[in-house]
Amino acid sequence: MMKAFIVYCHPSEDSFTRNVRDAFIKGITDSGNEYVLSDLYKDHFKTDMTEEEYLRDAYYRNTPEVAEDVLAEQAKINASDAIVFIYPVFWSEAPAKLVGWFDRVWSYGFAYGEKTMKTLEKGLILCSAGNPLERLEQTGILDSMKKVMLVDRLSDRVRQAEFIVFENTSRENELREKNWEKYLRIAYKKGKEYF
Ligand SMILES: Cc1cc2nc3c(=O)[nH]c(=O)nc-3n(C[C@H](O)[C@H](O)[C@H](O)COP(=O)(O)O)c2cc1C
Repeated sequence: MMKAFIVYCHPSEDSFTRNVRDAFIKGITDSGNEYVLSDLYKDHFKTDMTEEEYLRDAYYRNTPEVAEDVLAEQAKINASDAIVFIYPVFWSEAPAKLVGWFDRVWSYGFAYGEKTMKTLEKGLILCSAGNPLERLEQTGILDSMKKVMLVDRLSDRVRQAEFIVFENTSRENELREKNWEKYLRIAYKKGKEYF
């Protein structure tokens, strides 16, 4: 049995992204595998670094000890086989809360330096974007989002990774409703065939 660590970051249950999360989870459990979830807004995960945390990471120090809430996230990673990020695109990035999660959880001595982070089998990003993919491609924004997540944040911390965007999901776009079921089937299938 394999385990996926799902890092979910959306402020509202009334969202397409929340449905993507649930479809993916159903796929994972239907395949007989397991998951562990961090729901960053619901958990009120703290995403601003303290000065001590900044100095620790910036000076490549192992002291002070990593905070309990960060250790809990790191333990979830090291107890999993794969990591999955599910979020909406906000201002051409992941929500600030997820960006801040990386600031704290990818700490010195865990994600870089003398790494204690396990190399995960897989990484997956499922994100929803209000814009059409074509526009995100033309502006170079898709490429920048992918590079930041895949090349910088995941990098060789995972053996293989995939970045999936569900496009046209803003509420003013009629395609949101039209593609809804199709997208959720894709999310379900990704979960079911993940391992
Ligand atoms: C604050 C905010 C910023 C957003 N910025 C972008 C953006 O830069 N690019 C984009 O394609 N969509 C953007 N969107 C649209 C969301 O990505 C889209 O509405 C969301 O994925 C729809 O799904 P939801 O029901 O899960 O929120 C933004 C939405 C909000 C609320």
